Amino acid sequence: MLAKRVSHIKPAPTLALSAKVNQLKTQGVDIIGFGAGEPDFDTPDFIKEACIKALKDGKTKYAPSAGIPELKEALAEKLLRENQVEYRPSEVVITSGAKMALFLVMLALLEEGDEVLLPSPYWVTYPEQILLCGAKVVEVPLKEEEGFILRAETLKEYITPKTKMLILNSPSNPTGAVVPKQEQEKIAQLCLERGIFIVSDECYEAFLYDGEEFVSPASFSKEVREITLTINAFSKTFSMTGWRLGYVACPEKYAKVIADLNSQSISNATTFAQYGALEALKNSKAKEFVENMKKTFERRRDLAYNLLGEIPHISVVKPKGAFYIFPNLKFYSEKLGSDLRLAEYLIEKGKVAGVPGSAFGAEGYLRLSYCVSENTIKEGIDRLKSALLSLL
Ligand SMILES: Cc1ncc(COP(=O)(O)O)c(C=O)c1O
Repeated sequence: MLAKRVSHIKPAPTLALSAKVNQLKTQGVDIIGFGAGEPDFDTPDFIKEACIKALKDGKTKYAPSAGIPELKEALAEKLLRENQVEYRPSEVVITSGAKMALFLVMLALLEEGDEVLLPSPYWVTYPEQILLCGAKVVEVPLKEEEGFILRAETLKEYITPKTKMLILNSPSNPTGAVVPKQEQEKIAQLCLERGIFIVSDECYEAFLYDGEEFVSPASFSKEVREITLTINAFSKTFSMTGWRLGYVACPEKYAKVIADLNSQSISNATTFAQYGALEALKNSKAKEFVENMKKTFERRRDLAYNLLGEIPHISVVKPKGAFYIFPNLKFYSEKLGSDLRLAEYLIEKGKVAGVPGSAFGAEGYLRLSYCVSENTIKEGIDRLKSALLSLL
C-alpha cells in the first residue's frame, strides 16, 4: 500500500495541460495553448556556450551539495546589488529549480500539524508540498476587487498559535499581482511579531510592469532577514526552465540543513548546468536579454488585457507582473457547472487552452499565460471570445 502522505498527491495541472495541448498538436489539431508557465524565448547562447565549455572542461562530476562556490559567491553579490540583502555565500544553496528549493525549505521547517498561510489564488505546487510535509494549508482569500493583493490586515485574521510560515509570492502566479512595498513591510512586521517564517518566492522578480519596483522582504531589516527564506531561480528570468536551477538564500543555520537535505536526496544540482547559470549572472549581455523579454511581455500583457476587456460578462484585473492574466469567467463556467468543464469545452470547441482557476484555488477563473506571440494572443483570445459567446 502507498504511504498516507502521498494519498492526496496530484500531478501539477499546469504541466498536465501542456502535455495535453502538445499531444493534440502532434495529432495535427490546430490548438492555441495559453498554458505554458515558461517564457517562449530560448536560453541565450552565451549561457549555453558556458555550459558546453564546462562539459568540455570535464565539469561532469559531483559538486558540493550546496552548489559550486563561484555560483554561490555570484549569487551573494547579485542579492546585495539587486535586492539590497547581504547574504554570505554560505547562506546560499543551489537547488534543482525553485520547486525543489521550496520543498527543501518546507521539509526543513515544517512539523506535523503546523499551519502555513497561503494567500489564495496560489501557485498549484504550494499546497501539495505543504501537505507532503504533514502541515496544514490555511488559505488566505484574496479579493479580485482589491487586485488580489495580500493585506496585513487580512493576514492577521488567519494567524493562530500553530501558524509557522507564510508563503509570499509577489509578483504572483497566477494573478500577476504585486504586493506594494509598504504592504510587504506591514506583513513582515506582523510575521516578526508573531514569530512566523516568511518564504518569499521571488521567481518573477524580473517581470514587473508599469514602472513597479521589485522588493525583497529580507531587505527590510536584520530582524526580518532572520525570519525570511528567499527563493528564486534562473528558470524564468533567463528562460532556463529546463535547466532545473534555483536557489534559496537564508540564515546559515537553515542553509546548512537545506544543503544536507540536498546531499541526501539529489547530491547537488547538475554540475555543468551551474556554470551556465554563473555566466547568466556575470555576462553583461544578460541585462539586455532580460530587459527585452520584459518589454515584450509588457506589450503582450497590454494586448491580452485590452482584448479580454472586450468580452462581455467577464472581469479582469490588470496584472502588474509575471506573465499570466487571470480573467473571471464565472458567468460562463456556471453555465457548464465548473471551470474544469469550461476549460475542456474551450479546448474541444474553441481550440484554445488555459488552466482552470480551481487548480489555483479560484473556481471560475482561467489562467492564461502570455508566453506566446502577439498574433497568437489575438487569434487565441478571438477563439476564446467566440467559444464563450456561443454559450449565451
Ligand atoms: C511561483 C512559482 N514558484 C516556483 C516555480 C518553480 O520554478 P522552477 O521551474 O525553478 O522549479 C514556479 C514555476 O512555475 C512558479 O510559478
